[in-house]
Amino acid sequence: MADAQPFDMRDGVIWYDGAFVPWADAKVHVLTHALHYASAVFEGERAYGGVIFKMREHNQRLVESARLLDFEIPYTVEEIDRACEETLARQGFSDAYIRPIAWRGSEMMGVSAQHNKIHLAIAVWQWPSYFDPAQRLKGIRLDLAQWRRPDPLTAPSKAKATGLYMICTMSKHAAERKGYADALMLDWRGQVAECTGANIFFVKDGVIHTPTPDCFLDGITRRTVIGLAKARGIEVVERAILPEELSGFEQCFICGTAAEVTPVAEIADWRFTVGDITSTLMNDYMAAVQPSAPKAVAAA
Ligand SMILES: Cc1ncc(COP(=O)(O)O)c(C=O)c1O
Repeated sequence: MADAQPFDMRDGVIWYDGAFVPWADAKVHVLTHALHYASAVFEGERAYGGVIFKMREHNQRLVESARLLDFEIPYTVEEIDRACEETLARQGFSDAYIRPIAWRGSEMMGVSAQHNKIHLAIAVWQWPSYFDPAQRLKGIRLDLAQWRRPDPLTAPSKAKATGLYMICTMSKHAAERKGYADALMLDWRGQVAECTGANIFFVKDGVIHTPTPDCFLDGITRRTVIGLAKARGIEVVERAILPEELSGFEQCFICGTAAEVTPVAEIADWRFTVGDITSTLMNDYMAAVQPSAPKAVAAA
């Protein structure tokens, strides 16, 4: 169901090329290179208790994603960090989602974009749960996507680039039409890759197995969860996983900044239980994201 309030008509301010503008005024022209040629990169970050979790890693990745697309964001990571924090403070939220996006502007309109201005905007809104909360506790249902993550020789697969989400939206739509919450995507070799906006993990005999991120995003949440599992003494194996192996796994969960740690009950015809390791890591992740000293948030 569509959000009651469209995203271009919300309240507050958006940080846009170094200044705050009223939310509804943060616009681009139709002849924007990024709109025609997907020359844009973005981040998804979450704040808990007024503090943005792993902000530095996210904004570093934003700058690196831009470089992979052959452009340089005209702000340092430190400046982007500060802008994210200021936007969060201006919006007056303690728990929120932060969306920086950098894109090529309108100076040239063709495949070549050597002289286009690079823009950066940061928007902050409240986004409580990526999946239906009741479904989340029981474990969500995933379809198997028709689309595959591309060979890294055919796309900048390490960049969080808008163009790479085209097949994610198509896969998620197809899954939702069949009543699933999301879709698991294989890679171009037919190996298990990731979901349309989250990484995937499996559990068997007390050991965690997750695909090697050689053609998809090595998520910041993924790395956090691996650290949390190891801190509990749980073995984590990163390796190529074939879909035929799915019948042998007992538990499955996905993770990402928006999805946090979400148990999976079904993938197509495969079934999983929401077991102890999944529940432990769900709880450990929610504990890890809480700041040691929450920031006081001024009333909006
Ligand atoms: C396609 C995809 N994979 C994985 C992730 C998880 O990345 P992270 O944990 O850095 O948010 C995301 C979320 O941004 C994503 O969109």
